[in-house]
Amino acid sequence: MASSTSITVEVDGVSYTDDVEPRLLLVQYLRERLGKTGTVIGCDTTNCGACTVHLDGASVKSCTMFAVQADGHQVTTIEGMAQDGKLAPLQEAFHQCHALQCGFCTPGMIMQSASLLKENPHPTETEIREGLEGNLCRCTGYQNIVAAVKSVADGVEYGDSGLSVSESLTDGETAGVK
Ligand code: FES
Ligand code: FES
Repeated sequence: MASSTSITVEVDGVSYTDDVEPRLLLVQYLRERLGKTGTVIGCDTTNCGACTVHLDGASVKSCTMFAVQADGHQVTTIEGMAQDGKLAPLQEAFHQCHALQCGFCTPGMIMQSASLLKENPHPTETEIREGLEGNLCRCTGYQNIVAAVKSVADGVEYGDSGLSVSESLTDGETAGVK
């Protein structure tokens, strides 16, 4: 059996200490050890972006790094985006703009969009498309995805849709992506 390494990682505001094999990918750790199934695996070639999470506030593809590399760092997944049971503005915008079809790409799209808006709060449509070029939507729903991101950048307020977090995009099972 391969040797294990102890890691301590803060994920969605909770600190976890676990023994992991050095070869365990971060996305596998999140899904299989922590049950964070909102972060999904859409490819084995590092090109779909479905597994995108934030590491110390910056977006990373969690299939491209090992869990041990997250030791001592903060990770935010789609499941940590809602606050106090209320969807984050991007989550609300994706819902209201119908920016998802099967929903498989949605967690990664939202995490990457959040990074994009943090770096550039007022992107043009072209800049949004360029910022999301590492994320693939196999349902080809790009038009509404871009519209949702642009609406948040433009300060559109959707109010509270009334969706609870358990009914929302943050729930992989509800979104059909478990
Ligand atoms: S699962 Fe990570 S890029 Fe596709
Ligand atoms: S909504 Fe189906 S892959 Fe994007």
